[in-house]
Amino acid sequence: MKPDFKREQIWWEGKADGEERDIADEPINRALRWRAIDRSLQGIKTIAEVGAATGTFTIPLAKRGYKVTHIDFSAPAIALAKKKAKGLKNIEFVLANAADLHMFPNKAFDLVLNMDGAVSFCGKDATKSIKESCRICRKRLLITASNKAWLIPVWVATTFPKFKKIVPAVKSMIKDGFWHYDQHPHNKKIIPGYFGTLKAFLPSELAALIKANGLNVKRCQALGSLANLAGKDTVDFVKQNHRAMETFLDLCEDFDQNIMPCGPGTKQRAGLIAIAERR
Ligand SMILES: C[S@@+](CC[C@H](N)C(=O)[O-])C[C@H]1O[C@@H](n2cnc3c(N)ncnc32)[C@H](O)[C@@H]1O
Repeated sequence: MKPDFKREQIWWEGKADGEERDIADEPINRALRWRAIDRSLQGIKTIAEVGAATGTFTIPLAKRGYKVTHIDFSAPAIALAKKKAKGLKNIEFVLANAADLHMFPNKAFDLVLNMDGAVSFCGKDATKSIKESCRICRKRLLITASNKAWLIPVWVATTFPKFKKIVPAVKSMIKDGFWHYDQHPHNKKIIPGYFGTLKAFLPSELAALIKANGLNVKRCQALGSLANLAGKDTVDFVKQNHRAMETFLDLCEDFDQNIMPCGPGTKQRAGLIAIAERR
């Protein structure tokens, strides 16, 4: 059940235009990631983002003076990012697959970001994407990936009422956090259109993979579970009000750290974060 990277690439290319349209609790997920990035910047000069899409993170980081390498396998996403980066001299764009970054030497970048897509959507090759991101990291690594504690209920809710039974896809998601379009005959009936492959993790599973690649994991936990659990009205309220948002983000961080580190994370975007350092 290998990923079909050609199809994955085409699928993502079709999504480039919608990348910056926010749904539900996405702004909370992103703001929590910015907080984690900001805390990781001490002593950092060079940054690579793998799966950087249209530059939501790379372009502000380049504007702040870091030497940034923006990596993605979607040419349309890179084209949109290039437009936004006009005039910036300290950002370079590389079309490449997260699972094979052979064009970069070991420890090429002080900080490596691989967030929301380029791990989980590699399916069985998520381990290769993690390995490559660890390999090119000199100091610090920040990964976000799909959270099993959220995908299991989503998979159940999508299938149980419809098929009146627990379909094999749910069992696969529970067993090893894995989805592949061709894995079970039922799968094509579950999600209309192409939905290739996915790998979701528990915090302990993601942490173990990063550790196996030679990095110390400082933190690996759910990201933004409180936004998911507090619901739409709370999310809509804090999105309108900067002070309320900052207060809510403080609460989210406390909740993820101390109340529910293995919680579901946000509804939208990858709800699991790992922060690691080279030993
Ligand atoms: C949802 S976007 C995330 C963008 C950004 N990292 C963020 O967090 O806002 C996912 C991006 O990952 C890219 N991507 C997915 N799989 C990839 C792979 N195997 N290699 C390189 N890029 C990949 C997609 O093309 C897409 O631009």
